[in-house]
Amino acid sequence: MTEPTEPTAGVSRRKFFSGSAALAGAGGMALGVAGALASGAAASAPTEPVSDVERMAARANLSYPFYGEHQGGIDTPPQDHLVFTAFDVTATSPTELQLVLAKWSAAMAEMTSGAPVGKVEPGREQAIPGDTGEATDMGPQGLTLTLGFGPSLFDERFGLAPFKPADFAQLPAMAGESLDPALTGGDLCIQACANDPQVAYHAVRNLARMARTMVKTKWTVLGFGRASAGANQTTPRNLMGFKDGTRNVKDVVDLDAHVWVGEEAGQPWMVGGSYLVARKIHMLIETWDEDTIGDQQSIFGRTKGEGAPLSGTREHDVPDFHATVAGAPAIAPDSHIALVAHENNGGTKILRRGYNFTDGLDAVGRLDAGLMFLSFQKNPIQFATLQRKLGSSDRLNEYIRHVGSGVFAVPAGLPAAGSYYGKEFFA
Ligand code: HEM
Repeated sequence: MTEPTEPTAGVSRRKFFSGSAALAGAGGMALGVAGALASGAAASAPTEPVSDVERMAARANLSYPFYGEHQGGIDTPPQDHLVFTAFDVTATSPTELQLVLAKWSAAMAEMTSGAPVGKVEPGREQAIPGDTGEATDMGPQGLTLTLGFGPSLFDERFGLAPFKPADFAQLPAMAGESLDPALTGGDLCIQACANDPQVAYHAVRNLARMARTMVKTKWTVLGFGRASAGANQTTPRNLMGFKDGTRNVKDVVDLDAHVWVGEEAGQPWMVGGSYLVARKIHMLIETWDEDTIGDQQSIFGRTKGEGAPLSGTREHDVPDFHATVAGAPAIAPDSHIALVAHENNGGTKILRRGYNFTDGLDAVGRLDAGLMFLSFQKNPIQFATLQRKLGSSDRLNEYIRHVGSGVFAVPAGLPAAGSYYGKEFFA
């Protein structure tokens, strides 16, 4: 059994405030604060008072180990910002794909430690900078980069069919979705999460840039205000104003049982990996905002303020789906939580790691925003089982539209420098 990734207060090769004497003394303190932040206690008071500058330095210097049994960005406590991008591979030879994966793996290791991917100032006026430079001096900011392979990567182009996990395919069409082909699929995906949006953006930009003759971006979502919670993290709110992530997969027993792929996958490169489902879900926010509080609460099965199940009073009270109030179920059977709770789905659980997103206004001036739903599970069937129920019965469907979708096989973590994702494919 694997413990959740322990964060470290990484010493970045870049300094947060270069030359700042103030931070030299903050280093020791930063370790303590970073530990507190990373263990999910971001909102709780650190044991010792620290200044704002020290707090910022700790946050900036927070880094997670890149090498390990699992990729980062799965059981890592959700950071504040997301850049999710799906790519199609335009290269046609296996060697070029191998090159992309090797280059990306090395660059991911560098950027998650806070290092640039090449010289920002190459030393010669005529030289093109290696790194684009916008994250210089910002620190790793808890950056994790999670790589996934779409089912289409295993088609005839690269000879990877023997490595395709059994039954790995695009998600089946499901009720209640209006998917836009421009926001669907992808041969590869990168989920970049960090506590600073510019650091996450920089990472995806530089990965895309270094492979620009071999991959092209297909769709991307910028997320903010993590709409999910890991162990010991306070529960944030989604754009409908409800706490999101209360009953998430948070402990190692559940991770092993529901998230990490085991030997049963039949593909050694996936053992310790997971499957990522990405759904861009548009919210009809103006309509939602006109609904009554009673109806909103009944739709989710939880109170809006505390986030308590309607059968209880506190956020973490276990929902009682048999409780009644005046003869009627306290939690409506067609409420969101009743439909997807593991108690009502043969024990099925998924690790949700979504983010709020906004794309400004749509063509007719309405708020274009919603939830970038991301979930990790040991088999995409877990997601499909829950989504089938939601798609056909969820009262939330009146207020949401699934517009984007992808499913990706997320390989296990890399053991050490020199290894790269997909190496087994090219042996
Ligand atoms: C815009 C779309 C969605 C919104 C706004 C939303 C919001 C919420 C909220 C507020 C909760 C209750 C708090 C919590 O336990 O986290 C919740 C729970 C949950 N949601 Fe969603 N959700 C959405 C889509 C989905 C989808 C697509 C799935 C999976 C197919 C899903 C699966 C779950 C699960 C498994 C729970 C925990 C239920 C429990 O065990 O009590 N949600 N969601």
